[in-house]
Amino acid sequence: MPTLTIDGREITVEPGTRIIEAADRLGIDIPRFCYHPGLPVAGNCRMCLVDTNRSPKPVASCWDPCQDGHVVVTNSPRVLEARRAVLEYILLNHPVDCPICDQAGECDLQDLYFAHDHQPSRHPFHKHHKDKARVLGPQIIYDAERCINCTRCIRVCEEVAKAPQLVQVQRGERAYIDVFPGTQLDHPYSMCTADVCPVGALTTRDFRFKCRAWLTHGIQTVCGECSRGCGIRADVYRNAVQRLVPRHNPDVNQYWACDAGRLAYHRFETGRVSAVRIGGAAADYAKGVRDVAEALPGADARGVVVVLTPWMTCEDVGAVVAAVRSAAPGATFAVGGAAPGIQDDILVRADKNPNRNGVAKVLADLGVTPVALDAVLSQAPSLGALIVCGAEQAKAEALAGALAAVPLSIVLAALEGPLTAAARFVFPTTSPYEADGTWVNESGVTQRVRRAVEPVGDAKGFEVWASDLADRLGTPLAARDRAIGGNP
Ligand code: SF4
Ligand code: SF4
Ligand code: FES
Repeated sequence: MPTLTIDGREITVEPGTRIIEAADRLGIDIPRFCYHPGLPVAGNCRMCLVDTNRSPKPVASCWDPCQDGHVVVTNSPRVLEARRAVLEYILLNHPVDCPICDQAGECDLQDLYFAHDHQPSRHPFHKHHKDKARVLGPQIIYDAERCINCTRCIRVCEEVAKAPQLVQVQRGERAYIDVFPGTQLDHPYSMCTADVCPVGALTTRDFRFKCRAWLTHGIQTVCGECSRGCGIRADVYRNAVQRLVPRHNPDVNQYWACDAGRLAYHRFETGRVSAVRIGGAAADYAKGVRDVAEALPGADARGVVVVLTPWMTCEDVGAVVAAVRSAAPGATFAVGGAAPGIQDDILVRADKNPNRNGVAKVLADLGVTPVALDAVLSQAPSLGALIVCGAEQAKAEALAGALAAVPLSIVLAALEGPLTAAARFVFPTTSPYEADGTWVNESGVTQRVRRAVEPVGDAKGFEVWASDLADRLGTPLAARDRAIGGNP
């Protein structure tokens, strides 16, 4: 365990720890471009130079491991001059087109220029021009002039996605990043290249020219597209999600997220259920809840079945079970959900539901043993009521048939589809970006889902509907059955 001092502060670290990592732990900022904590060290940009007592000249702190007795200085006049010189070199041929660059406002080069160089170019010649807006793949566009050749994008492809689709070609000021001839950057994690690019060289086609970064505010939430539950940040402007970017979570996804998960918010931009419908006609939300509260107790004699979805939060499930039981004590519950899909060895899981674990835990806690969905479908004609929660149902067509066969059919869903077409009562619910609550991922990690945007129309969380139903029945939910609610 080497002990060293950085700017006069002592720290003891594990063998192999790099100086830049030890400095990070002390809260001492060393500027960097090519270093990324989730990638192998390349040590090519020289922005992280520091002075040490073990070297006659400044060393790259991302490359040098900590040694016992090391004395590191990160802010000597020589280090500051080295940083300024590195920046001047990096900017020699840079187009400085910040006003039209999507990275402006969140660009490391822009920030470090203002912090460490902040002087006009002394370059007396014409700058060397390179390709702009080059399409590298379905999700990524490359601006070679802005690229500082840090190779983070190459390392993400090789080390994270296990898909070495990018390569550096040429040398010196002519160097640029490219795909192999006849191929494209199209692996399932290709948008992570734009995340790690410290400048505006790689931009996602999804966010390009959509919104200035400084206009958005980020909400820390969780991706629902598979049972991994990657941490994501939803960047929001004018009550609309503008992009999703991965959020560091060492227990779940490290620094990464798949392209499919971060593009999933588009699914909820159209086809939303926005108003209550009774018998196909728009209706008042309060009337819908009142009618259900009046009809549900009478249906209990023939049987009431609720099909839950593992997209509901734990709080949703607790509230729906409590409210329906207070109207129909004999109600039974089944768990549906989205159909399984592809899986890989990196993040993506086959189970395309974010909270199967959480739903199972809550039902077990409430003493509910779920019935098989197939049994529900076969009993449907004899049931008194069928309530289906969520449009994410692999057996949507069969459930739609069952809904059409029961006297009291209720669907709570965010998206229109066969279920909402078949049900007598349709209540709009929140999308995952409008929801608030808790999901438990496939490995048991409990995570907070936060509301990023306000719900559309009359859409409400399942637990709000359940709470209103319970109020109407005269059996308000106990505090433990209620959702955490509110916009954090
Ligand atoms: S495109 Fe970005 S991440 Fe890739 S080498 Fe250039 S600056 Fe680095
Ligand atoms: S791996 Fe799963 S949870 Fe993670 S971003 Fe992709 S779809 Fe979402
Ligand atoms: S961050 Fe150390 S050389 Fe690039």
